[in-house]
Amino acid sequence: MASVDETAPAAPSREEAADEVAALTIRINEARDAYYERDTVIISDAEYDELMRRLEALERLYPELQSQDSPTLTVGGRGETTLFAPVEHAERMLSLDNVFSADELAEWATRARAAAGRDVHWLCELKIDGLALNLRYRRGRLVSAATRGDGRVGEDVTENVRFVPGIPMQLEGTGHPELVEVRGEVFFPTAAFDALNARQAETGEREFANPRNAASGSLRQKAEGKNAAQIELMRARLGGLQMLVHGIGAWPDPPVAAQSEVYGLLAEWGLPTSTRFRVVDSIEGVQEFVAYYGEHRHSVEHEIDGVVVKVDELALHAELGATSRAPRWAIAYKYPPEQVNTTLVDIVVSVGRTGRATPYAVMEPVRVAGSVVRQATLHNQEVVKAKGVLIGDTVVLRKAGDVIPEVLGPVVELRDGTEREFVMPAECPECGTPLRPMKEGDIDLRCPNARTCPAQVRGRVEHIGSRGALDIEALGEVSAAALTQPRVPAEPPLPTEAGLFDLTVDDLTPIEVVVRDAETGLEKLDADGSARVRAPFRRNPTSAERKAGLEGPQPSASAIKLIDEIAKAKTKPLWRILVSLNIRHVGPVAARALADHFGSLEAIRAASRDELAEVEGVGSIIADSLIDWFEVDWHREIVDRWAAAGVQFATPGHPGPGRATDGGGVLAGLTVVATGSLEGFTREGAQEAIIAAGGKAASSVSKKTDFVAAGPGAGSKLAKAEELGIRILDAAQFAILVTKGPDALEQ
Ligand code: IVH
Repeated sequence: MASVDETAPAAPSREEAADEVAALTIRINEARDAYYERDTVIISDAEYDELMRRLEALERLYPELQSQDSPTLTVGGRGETTLFAPVEHAERMLSLDNVFSADELAEWATRARAAAGRDVHWLCELKIDGLALNLRYRRGRLVSAATRGDGRVGEDVTENVRFVPGIPMQLEGTGHPELVEVRGEVFFPTAAFDALNARQAETGEREFANPRNAASGSLRQKAEGKNAAQIELMRARLGGLQMLVHGIGAWPDPPVAAQSEVYGLLAEWGLPTSTRFRVVDSIEGVQEFVAYYGEHRHSVEHEIDGVVVKVDELALHAELGATSRAPRWAIAYKYPPEQVNTTLVDIVVSVGRTGRATPYAVMEPVRVAGSVVRQATLHNQEVVKAKGVLIGDTVVLRKAGDVIPEVLGPVVELRDGTEREFVMPAECPECGTPLRPMKEGDIDLRCPNARTCPAQVRGRVEHIGSRGALDIEALGEVSAAALTQPRVPAEPPLPTEAGLFDLTVDDLTPIEVVVRDAETGLEKLDADGSARVRAPFRRNPTSAERKAGLEGPQPSASAIKLIDEIAKAKTKPLWRILVSLNIRHVGPVAARALADHFGSLEAIRAASRDELAEVEGVGSIIADSLIDWFEVDWHREIVDRWAAAGVQFATPGHPGPGRATDGGGVLAGLTVVATGSLEGFTREGAQEAIIAAGGKAASSVSKKTDFVAAGPGAGSKLAKAEELGIRILDAAQFAILVTKGPDALEQ
């Protein structure tokens, strides 16, 4: 069964789950760090497993809470099998000790110098925020590339490293040692990271939280095969990575005397070394380097989180030695998480799709950790109180985890008495309904007017247009606002989403909207101080049109496009229609499961709680949510009006509840994979056709697959089918298969 443990007392709310996920993540990572970094065990295996299981359960319940670097997605757990073969490093890969201030840095340098017993040279370089990699070269040839792992044993990523530009398979020059380990950092330069995330967003895949996670995820990507398409895929994914080497491991007798000379030699061998290093002979020189890059952090093409200072003389490395964790001849100076001061211009309350009223800080725009920030959530009125901020305050802002902006608190000394306290409104700022907690004890306040609160309708309409729902390109944030809250006409064309499919071009043309800032939601003003107004759905007639007698405004291209796309959406797959109904917890995954199993909204509505909960991928929480949803009059009205407007609430040809794969249909009992572009079918259309014919539409090829329909652009799935000897069909054969069944293919 699905996602929810029936024996659990009560499923946590999303907010509760988010808190618990955060706490579990910290606890699990502490346990891992203790185990891997300090060779200590702080919790029993059983307790560890229990924490992991709980985290997995919560992430299944609320998939959006699973971060890219969740312990459930990263290796490092005890006894877990890793995807990649283990490689023992010839010499242990140590970590670095950290210092966080100029004083601590000076103390470390003084100690190191005293231990050396003589003046030393300091090699200063950047601490790259990436992933450590150990390259092993035997007589100049790369024999293995491995991640750090626990320091002794890492993961073999040699195959993947071949796709990372700049890592030589064969060293240049001559006289290479029998064996040498070269160590460095693999990372995504900021630009490549942005491009990767843009691609992820485009293909609907999860974006990476930061370049480091992206590097780790990419390097650990497993190739499915070795055909040209697969190789192309790996190249696309790994080709943006870069490596910079910053040291050596096993190397019995290096022919140089200083770390900086090692870099020279490694560069001669064709290895990628950084030019951003400096050798200085005083602590002042070190501090200068640290200060310079503290200021110019973002002018480097990749992320850095500090500076590494190393004793340059190699002879002293041996003398100073190492602790079990880190060498005594090197230190990492960590830059503070970036914080800046700015003015808190206002605290505005916004109401979201689900009615939750969230205060957020509107600030004087300011640059922090590489981007311009002007708003940050303050979560709820209690958080505002706890932070002690007043409107008009100078506040300290930082990026938590370097991604999410967070107001830390006020700079009290800078107050001049004009600051004022924020008062959480008692009423919804958009519809005036008194705000209240959803249930007793909740801190969050909500607007209970779900049906007609413009903020909630706007949110729901935007959701309907979103990629995971009806995917109506022209129905984004701006159109959703225009349809639900225009300045003109006085009555919005969509007081609720019930009328969405009845809209006509004539309903749109009169619409005028006030232009708002996309980020803060505040009205934009013209030079004279009046609100800036736009009419997005009309245009002036062209001269040709005027000549032809057309007077007055004409519908704009976007008006026509919107109406056209809405019409087309009426026959989109059932799961998309389900997602667009804005039923709590019913996202694409649950909606697909429901649509596959029941085949129609009518069947879903007729099902009992247990029948719903039993469906794989549904479960009791979603079952309850569905039952609750259908009990509300105005929800049923949405369905009725959409149906009257021609929305298709059933999958054509679906054989009925629970019989998708085994009851009737020409593809009963057969599993089909569709890949590439099949003429006459959209990607989804092909899937739906398989399901409608009673077959199972699978997304990956396995021994259980009966047919693979492949068109231009087919990649690894086609290769896999060939490898497994599965029958491959072209578009025309596929059309025969889904309409007449497999026997018809033989005629
Ligand atoms: S030297 C034995 N130099 O930071 C010391 N490490 O937090 C080896 N790192 O495990 C490390 N930039 O993966 C060194 N310029 C640099 C570095 C660097 C990033 C990483 C390295 C290390 C980690 C410690």
